[in-house]
Amino acid sequence: MNFLFLLYVLAHTKSFAQKPKSELEDSYVKFFEKKNCDEKCIYPYLNLNATYVSYFPRNCTRICSDLRIDQNIDLSMEQLFDLLKNMKHLIGSLAVGVNDNFKDMKFLSNLETIDTFYQIQFKMADFLTEIELPSLTTINGPGWEIALHKRLKRVHFPNLKNITTHDSRSIEKFDIFFLGQLPEFCVSSDTIYNFMRIQGLKTHHVYGNICPPNFDNSKICQKPAPGCVQIYGDVNVGPNFEMKNLNSVEIIFGTLTINGARLEDANLLNNLKYIAVLKR
Ligand SMILES: *[C@@H]1O[C@H](CO)[C@@H](O)[C@H](O)[C@H]1NC(C)=O
Ligand SMILES: *[C@@H]1O[C@H](CO)[C@@H](O)[C@H](O)[C@H]1NC(C)=O
Ligand SMILES: *[C@@H]1O[C@H](CO)[C@@H](O)[C@H](O)[C@H]1NC(C)=O
Repeated sequence: MNFLFLLYVLAHTKSFAQKPKSELEDSYVKFFEKKNCDEKCIYPYLNLNATYVSYFPRNCTRICSDLRIDQNIDLSMEQLFDLLKNMKHLIGSLAVGVNDNFKDMKFLSNLETIDTFYQIQFKMADFLTEIELPSLTTINGPGWEIALHKRLKRVHFPNLKNITTHDSRSIEKFDIFFLGQLPEFCVSSDTIYNFMRIQGLKTHHVYGNICPPNFDNSKICQKPAPGCVQIYGDVNVGPNFEMKNLNSVEIIFGTLTINGARLEDANLLNNLKYIAVLKR
């Protein structure tokens, strides 16, 4: 009896010793409770690395974590991709600053929603040239910062159509801060179009160019023409301008100058909803 009891104690001490103590701050513990996180799908550690890989709930699609993938990561791009491939929904927060093994962020390509307690941060990954999150549709949280990347050329979030803030904070308070170091840094036109369509979302802290869209689509034009829905380039409307050419335009990625045109003609700007110009 005593012997069996000792075995029992030993077995349990061992399993307690195996799993390291949670590194979560209380505020996150509360946030996870509020969000009904499944115990099994909480990753309670701050970093992802080779030593802690086995504790990552890799089979969960909805993962709760204050997740940081930093420069010290000792996993390869493939290992990280494999680890995160089922993660579709992240509750908690996300900070990424990978090392020179990483040129892109394919390891987050299946991520669809981020419900973040803190601002999302993609910072100081000097070797990333592109950030594309093809599946991302939804962000709920206080803000998003992409900055201090030496080689970053393009960011692209083609399906990000829903951005909201916690509780009743106004969407105008959602802080998007995208800053490129390279002169050619650009944000894809699809991303800008999505941002424009989110009513009230402010983009005045997006510093960069708008990447040229794919002109194979006949609705995307460089010059006003019948049928264009998006125009990439500045539009000058003078006295002899064919207003009909702007009839179906919804967005101009550039400036619109009206110079000497009759005002009643401007009523033909029926569908124009957005003019997108970014600061450098
Ligand atoms: C790995 O990550 C864990 C969890 O945050 C951390 O406690 C540990 O110090 C890290 N180990 C190494 C070698 O970086
Ligand atoms: C995850 O799923 C795989 C394949 O379905 C299974 O072999 C593995 O045991 C699961 N791991 C955990 C931690 O549940
Ligand atoms: C947008 O996201 C919020 C939560 O983040 C969700 O409640 C809402 O239903 C979503 N709206 C749409 C149109 O998907």
